[in-house]
Amino acid sequence: MTDSAVNRQFWNAYASQWVERGRKAWQSGQPYWGIWSIPQSQIAFLDTDLRGLRAVELGCGTGYVSRWMEQLGAEVVSLDLSDAQLATAAELKREYGSGIRLIHGNAERLPLHDASFDYAISEYGAAIWCDPYLWLKEASRVLRPGGRLRFWGHSPWAMVCLDDEGELVTRSLGRDYFGLHRLDFSDAPIDPGGIEFNLPISDWFQLFQDLGFIVERFLEIKAPDTARGESFGSDAKWAQRFPAEHAWWLRKRPP
Ligand SMILES: C[S@@+](CC[C@H](N)C(=O)[O-])C[C@H]1O[C@@H](n2cnc3c(N)ncnc32)[C@H](O)[C@@H]1O
Repeated sequence: MTDSAVNRQFWNAYASQWVERGRKAWQSGQPYWGIWSIPQSQIAFLDTDLRGLRAVELGCGTGYVSRWMEQLGAEVVSLDLSDAQLATAAELKREYGSGIRLIHGNAERLPLHDASFDYAISEYGAAIWCDPYLWLKEASRVLRPGGRLRFWGHSPWAMVCLDDEGELVTRSLGRDYFGLHRLDFSDAPIDPGGIEFNLPISDWFQLFQDLGFIVERFLEIKAPDTARGESFGSDAKWAQRFPAEHAWWLRKRPP
């Protein structure tokens, strides 16, 4: 099976556990981000005025980021590989009378035209589930020159320190940092996952440069001081000391 087929199967099986989380996010008037639900007022991950822009979400899941972009004025295409996740997104779209356009597809091979978007985003979608050498090339292709890309996902620090079962971030450097790329959790004995991707920071920078992206902002995310306990494999105390997540604000080089 290809990596994306493994991930599609995983997300189709897992989608029912994401419905409530998705509904809560659709209900929220205010965007919030990542493992610790950091409010947009603290980290302005999403640009605040998207009026007149064509936006695409890559790996939209239940579609709440797409909904937030729509509320900020964008015309939104929401793409995901999992039919089951898209079914939840479709239900929420109906409930909220939203006009986002849901499409089934693989962010590593986008069924979208060249230079047809002004804005692209992924929060834990393509950002971690797709090979960066494939999805970022596709994101660059579908963005017009000057178009913006924002993505948020695990930091490579967290991947190096994640235990072999893919369950919890530890204080040991269990995996090599150099050469970090493909992480296969599909055979994990306790909580089998899918296949995820990450890169050492210098490789991310090199890839952006090779694809014609300018880095406008890069943030290693510190868990809020109020965070407690464990969330999505990260321990709050760990994530207050080391970056469990990172966020990137990129722009496709204008001509
Ligand atoms: C965690 S959800 C991200 C959506 C949302 N921001 C969230 O955090 O719930 C991950 C999504 O990525 C999708 N995904 C995984 N591989 C993909 C691929 N190759 N192309 C498009 N979507 C993919 C999955 O189907 C899943 O819906």
